[in-house]
Amino acid sequence: MSVWSAGYVTDIAYMTGWYRQQSPAMMALACLLGSVAMKIPQGDDPVHVLELGCGQGYGAMLLAASNPAWQVTAVDYNPAHIAAAREWAAEAALTNITFIEGNLATLAEEAVGRQIPEADFVTMHGVWSWVPKVVQDGIVRLLRDKVRAGGAVHVSYNALPAWGPAIGMQRLLREAGQRLGWRSDRQAEEGLAIVQALLDAEAVHLNRSPFIKGLMSRLGAAPVAYLAHEYMNEQWKPCFMADVAAALSDAKLEFVASSQLTENFPALTLTDAQRAVAQKFEDPLMREMIKDMCLERSLRHDVFVRGARRLDNAARDAALMDVVIGLVIHPGDLPLEAEMPAGQAQLNPSFYKPIVDAASRGPARVRDLLELPAVEGRRDNPAELLGMLVGLELADVVTRPDAEPGAEAIRFNRATARRFVRSENIGRIIGVASQRIGAGIGATLLDLIVLERLRDGHPEMDDLLRQIAPLPEHVEKMREALDHSLRVRMPILRAAGVF
Ligand SMILES: C[S@@+](CC[C@H](N)C(=O)[O-])C[C@H]1O[C@@H](n2cnc3c(N)ncnc32)[C@H](O)[C@@H]1O
Repeated sequence: MSVWSAGYVTDIAYMTGWYRQQSPAMMALACLLGSVAMKIPQGDDPVHVLELGCGQGYGAMLLAASNPAWQVTAVDYNPAHIAAAREWAAEAALTNITFIEGNLATLAEEAVGRQIPEADFVTMHGVWSWVPKVVQDGIVRLLRDKVRAGGAVHVSYNALPAWGPAIGMQRLLREAGQRLGWRSDRQAEEGLAIVQALLDAEAVHLNRSPFIKGLMSRLGAAPVAYLAHEYMNEQWKPCFMADVAAALSDAKLEFVASSQLTENFPALTLTDAQRAVAQKFEDPLMREMIKDMCLERSLRHDVFVRGARRLDNAARDAALMDVVIGLVIHPGDLPLEAEMPAGQAQLNPSFYKPIVDAASRGPARVRDLLELPAVEGRRDNPAELLGMLVGLELADVVTRPDAEPGAEAIRFNRATARRFVRSENIGRIIGVASQRIGAGIGATLLDLIVLERLRDGHPEMDDLLRQIAPLPEHVEKMREALDHSLRVRMPILRAAGVF
């Protein structure tokens, strides 16, 4: 472990990932659902987004490429991450993003930190519970100095009590791995094998926990970079939400909602009996504690606001009615039920079907969708409509409904496709920039290759099929994937203004 790293893994780069919970539109929508005023930022607004602990900067670049009028600043202390991010941004010729190689423990006091402009939206994914207290304190000082009055902060972290049973497992994995491996990815693999061996040998503190068993069933397939950055840090410490809220209150930040939108609906997350207990409390932090006690989910995506301005129900609904959304599924794929922590949520087809059909034709305002003559059901509940459609990832907020595919997004998507072109990535969901959505939208690598060809005027796909299915036994499966991409995915990406 190098001295400058303060115990955080730096000998292997973190994987490239993007997360829709980090987008300002999602943060703003969360605020509105939490009855706090927040303008959903439009593509042409002078917005400054700051990402702390940005890794290789994929998520930050997606926002920059999707919103050329915004400024994005992204910070990480790992020079390998910043070098990779700068190279990628240069390849896409992005001019509205700045990468800073800086240590969050001290950045607030350094000249480079002082020069960072005030931010409207700050995001930090996968940082808070993985870094030591001196870094958390530095983050709070930075937030105190940099978050604009009325601005929002997204912070994700490993939450207690969900992670409680796995504290011993992480310690075992790290200690065993350090003794058996050299670089931290090898250490993580070795440590994981020891945990598995002890689980198989019915070690009581592993074997009794359904949470650990669930984790272990997934970790075998996880990328080694993820394992190293999740489990090999010296100071990993899952947190109670109330403690994060107390720390951030020093930056005048107040908890508002979750950017995992469905979590803002008690009817979806808690059973009737659990809700009855939660309703005894007005204090939102107490309600969150009860939620954390009842939910299996282990990663929180909290949104805090500096100077939360509360809305009454009428003002909140008026703001939600004006939100514009676009469908990101084929209308025929509308699910009629969704598995939620409180049980199965039903999506009544006589309400949702006409709405989804209309939204599939192009971006639409919530108010107009609810006023469609064919809709049967409650037309006065925009929160529920947005919670279900956007929360379940069936639709996205659209911030520039008329935007054509912009040059920055096209260049970034090309650079991204070049980076990910490897056969093992062909079905992987990656984020592509959309100036219409003002954020990333999910696509497979195959989708990205297909859309580049369509854009270049090559609608014939037979030679592509030969490339991606060199062996006869793969042809049928790949033909199906290509057909799905052309028939289902391309209309969605076209409606999202990607090409
Ligand atoms: C788990 S990764 C998450 C990266 C990115 N946010 C993502 O979700 O893909 C945590 C990141 O925090 C960075 N980090 C850790 N300690 C830091 C510090 N003291 N100052 C700046 N960055 C730090 C790491 O280098 C790493 O890129």
